[in-house]
Amino acid sequence: MELTTDLRLGDCAEILKELPNDSVDLIFTSPPYADQRKQTYGGIHPDEYVAWFLPISEQLLRVLKPTGTFILNIKEKVVNGERSTYVMELILAMKKEQGWLWTEEFIWHKKNCYPGKWPNRFRDSWERLIQFNKNKQFYMNQEAAMVPMGDWSKARLKNLSNTDKIRDESKVGSGFGKNISNWLDRDMAYPTNVLHLATECNNKKHSAAFPEGLPEWFIKLFTKEGDTVLDPFMGSGTTNAVAQRMKRNSIGIEIVPEYHAMVNNELKPVELYLLEQNKGYDSSFPNRRIEIR
Ligand SMILES: C[S@@+](CC[C@H](N)C(=O)[O-])C[C@H]1O[C@@H](n2cnc3c(N)ncnc32)[C@H](O)[C@@H]1O
Repeated sequence: MELTTDLRLGDCAEILKELPNDSVDLIFTSPPYADQRKQTYGGIHPDEYVAWFLPISEQLLRVLKPTGTFILNIKEKVVNGERSTYVMELILAMKKEQGWLWTEEFIWHKKNCYPGKWPNRFRDSWERLIQFNKNKQFYMNQEAAMVPMGDWSKARLKNLSNTDKIRDESKVGSGFGKNISNWLDRDMAYPTNVLHLATECNNKKHSAAFPEGLPEWFIKLFTKEGDTVLDPFMGSGTTNAVAQRMKRNSIGIEIVPEYHAMVNNELKPVELYLLEQNKGYDSSFPNRRIEIR
């Protein structure tokens, strides 16, 4: 199997136009947040954020396969003591003007958020990962994301109530129900939509890198080996490095030449793998990335 890592330098609003329709399985990205990090790569005013992002999301909609998924890592900042509303406005505009489905929202809980004191709020220890799709039927390998049942099962399943032992139909008539006793003898359960991951401080060359575990979780959930992952705001190339390790093709776009060159030096453009049945990918975090940063 030949895997490619295609790293392009430039403004993603333009570079995305070079990619073919329906060619990407997963878009995973963290764009610049409104008005933040002006020192490093410029900021967009919260009032202009939606207008800036929509031409980009229009291209993302075009390049995403009908079965694909777009995960947008973003968090609105506080302006004059109030949360900005640009993320909500963006979701509404993408849905109403472009036809995206807002399928789900995951929370990244930053386990190692540093302590602090603010007069009117507590420290912010989470970010949004907003899931958009083109269709209600999209590729999702739920089994790949299963987690050990852990101690929850011992405590919760020890004293089952009568409703727990039968199928407990939804009280709102949704047709969904649960039978908790079904989980009695199982070792693994499906995860929740909250991801508990520490931020990583090993990245000295980029001020906003996310931890490798973040793209890894979504890549294993929404793609297969040999699929294509796109990060239009590549930064230090975390998504691309993880995609390469997980035997996925990837495309990264970065506007700052220094970041682009750094990732280009690190990741090989083409790698050849022998297809080994059920071998899986290397889920350990390689020292290589930690060393170069
Ligand atoms: C939040 S950072 C992404 C960090 C990345 N997830 C990582 O792990 O290193 C956003 C990146 O988008 C880049 N960027 C900003 N505007 C861009 C544009 N119009 N096209 C491409 N890249 C852009 C910035 O230079 C920055 O490196």
